[in-house]
Amino acid sequence: MMGQELKSAILVDECLIELPDLDQVSQIEEQAYAFPWTPGNLRDSLAAGHLFPALKQGNMLIAYSILMPVLDEVHLLNLTVASHFQGQGWGTEMLRVSMRLAATALHGKSMLLEVRPSNTVGLALYEKHGFKSIGIRKQYYPAENGREDALILRRVLP
Ligand SMILES: CC(C)(COP(=O)(O)OP(=O)(O)OC[C@H]1O[C@@H](n2cnc3c(N)ncnc32)[C@H](O)[C@@H]1OP(=O)(O)O)[C@@H](O)C(=O)NCCC(=O)NCCS
Repeated sequence: MMGQELKSAILVDECLIELPDLDQVSQIEEQAYAFPWTPGNLRDSLAAGHLFPALKQGNMLIAYSILMPVLDEVHLLNLTVASHFQGQGWGTEMLRVSMRLAATALHGKSMLLEVRPSNTVGLALYEKHGFKSIGIRKQYYPAENGREDALILRRVLP
């Protein structure tokens, strides 16, 4: 409840990440993940034409995602909220923005993503927003003790 009050008090803009923003994205990646995307991964993804929608307060990045269209399906490659802003509704908002852009700007009919089964917050967020498990990619992610499977989730876009 307090998170929602805080959220509505902050003025936030929707925008698209560009090359000069990638330093900030890298810093957030480092804080948010044990195995973050590297600056090179981010640059390659942007150069490949993937869409990086974001929520910003002034110049401060709150959340971003990375969308890769494959025919009429959009792959959600990344969804991250800066550590200080987690648990305040921004992940939910970023997922909504991502689904809207996937359907409109990218003409996607469905969205696909992978998530670690151990990421209970991420998994619950996706399931709450209509994503259903369609399979497992064995040993997909690096993990502290070797590798971890990925759950593959999918939903039809509105
Ligand atoms: C996963 C992530 C995107 C979720 O975004 P967020 O802004 O923290 O989540 P929200 O505040 O929108 O909350 C989403 C739901 O999770 C719940 N939640 C959030 N943080 C939680 C926590 N620490 N423990 C338990 N539940 C939590 C909320 O109550 C909410 O549930 P509700 O809609 O039923 O009320 C964000 O935490 C994050 O970036 N984590 C690190 C990177 C990551 O794991 N990305 C996803 C990879 S697939």
